[in-house]
Amino acid sequence: MKRENISYWTESAKVSQFPALNQDIRTEVLVIGGGIAGILAAYRLAEAGHKVVLVEGRKLVQETTANTTAKITAQHHLMYQEILKAQGEEKAKAFYQSQADGIEAIEDLVEKHGIDCDFEKMSSTQVTDGSNEKVIRAEYDAYQTLGIKSRLHEEDLGLPFKTTLGLEMPDQAQFHPVKFLAGVIDAAVKLGVTFYEETLITELGKIRAVTDKGQTIHFEKAVMATHFPVNHLKNNYMSQLQIERSYIVAADGMDIPHGMFQTVDTPKRSLRHYHTEKGIGVLVGGENHITGTKDHTEEAYEKLSEFAFENFKGNITGQWSAQDMMTVDHMPLIGQYDKQDPNLYVITGFNKFGMATAATAAQLISDLISRQHNLYEELFRPERINTLGNQAKALGKQMIDAVKGETLALKDYSTDTSKLERGDGGIFNIEGKLQAVYKDDEGNEHHVSPFCTHLGCVIKFNGAEKTWDCPCHGSRFDREGCVLEGPAAKDLK
Ligand SMILES: Cc1cc2nc3c(=O)[nH]c(=O)nc-3n(C[C@H](O)[C@H](O)[C@H](O)COP(=O)(O)OP(=O)(O)OC[C@H]3O[C@@H](n4cnc5c(N)ncnc54)[C@H](O)[C@@H]3O)c2cc1C
Ligand code: FES
Repeated sequence: MKRENISYWTESAKVSQFPALNQDIRTEVLVIGGGIAGILAAYRLAEAGHKVVLVEGRKLVQETTANTTAKITAQHHLMYQEILKAQGEEKAKAFYQSQADGIEAIEDLVEKHGIDCDFEKMSSTQVTDGSNEKVIRAEYDAYQTLGIKSRLHEEDLGLPFKTTLGLEMPDQAQFHPVKFLAGVIDAAVKLGVTFYEETLITELGKIRAVTDKGQTIHFEKAVMATHFPVNHLKNNYMSQLQIERSYIVAADGMDIPHGMFQTVDTPKRSLRHYHTEKGIGVLVGGENHITGTKDHTEEAYEKLSEFAFENFKGNITGQWSAQDMMTVDHMPLIGQYDKQDPNLYVITGFNKFGMATAATAAQLISDLISRQHNLYEELFRPERINTLGNQAKALGKQMIDAVKGETLALKDYSTDTSKLERGDGGIFNIEGKLQAVYKDDEGNEHHVSPFCTHLGCVIKFNGAEKTWDCPCHGSRFDREGCVLEGPAAKDLK
């Protein structure tokens, strides 16, 4: 299994390691997925007195959580004006409060367990070069209506590019996500959580799960913190989730004014500083697209590097990318999976704001399983997506459009692989059969089936990561077709 572009977070932190499950077991609560959502949920459930087992299909904290920008913030782009308009004042206020609670919960965990993870309180600011002042002012108005503490900056903010207006939300935070979760994992072990790595769940029933190696886990409750839920096929609403990739470059040797920043102009850039052994560096994020739909993805790193170099003059020391689940109403799906399966719970749809949200989700799941009241049960109830009608349909259509391009007749695919460049991949018609072909640096061709082993969508080559990505639910495979990221559990043939 080949991995390119390892994040700074992964390179600079050590996480405790755990064995793979090698026998059938029973537990009260099974948490599936070892990213921030699963780990914090396991911690909270154990804290509430439950017997918890967490299984991770690969290694703990290796997927999206290890490749994030790690801003812990309630400032989600310019989303409050939209939420206010679509869902009203009460829900918009509750949503803001859920994020503020998440920030506080992370701060408390850092303090309680003395976790050394570069946690810093600071503000988050949306800025424009003048071309989007109107939407920033509209967002400010929404903040005023919702009582969100903020400051509008009409003066220069000291960034190395032109800004004419900034909307600051104070009391946000940032951290090193892998160091933080390494500390939470150790604390969870002390609370009695049992962790298993390299234990992929391939079947999930009402009271038992089966792993890829055939072991059975009997449970009373199971929590899917796996991005795309393991049991998605039972529910239409899960087909409304969309998966989106984003890219990050790390530039050493330069700092930005204190705070986290996001440009609202096109192309959007997300900025924060981070600590390295050599001093301070800057992370620049952006270049979002639906997974498995974009040609020449390697340009994403080129564009971010150009921006970082032009503005910060630093050396580019790292690059990485990841993907997250997006929902139609910009709110996460957290809670009981559906009424027919009362033992199953889901945490997904973080819309690229999973840090504070995961902390709130962990408390919500723990409260639901412990039958305690929680303020956010209705707001984040997963089944609400069924009632979002046209918005949900639009997202479904977008997804269909995303794959349509690849599902044309066989005759529309080239039969000639000779023009394929070294280091590139594409879908070809080889003797009447569609094949995914990767040409390595020596010019050798590697052929695999182009049909995703999850539900059969046609994969697309991702030049930035040298992987095969599926546009339907985000499964990813390496050049030889081995699964890197689910929901697919089987390698390409
Ligand atoms: C580029 C980028 C930048 C971002 N920046 C920010 C930011 O600044 N601030 C912010 O708040 N959010 C940010 N986000 C979003 C945030 O990083 C994510 O929402 C969050 O990390 C998702 O956590 P997770 O636990 O749901 O997923 P993951 O970290 O991906 O964890 C899911 C885990 O489940 C495991 N798994 C899957 N299927 C199975 C199975 N069948 N059996 C067992 N295990 C399984 C996977 O191996 C994986 O380890 C960003 C996202 C991206 C892509
Ligand atoms: S990830 Fe579902 S079909 Fe590929």
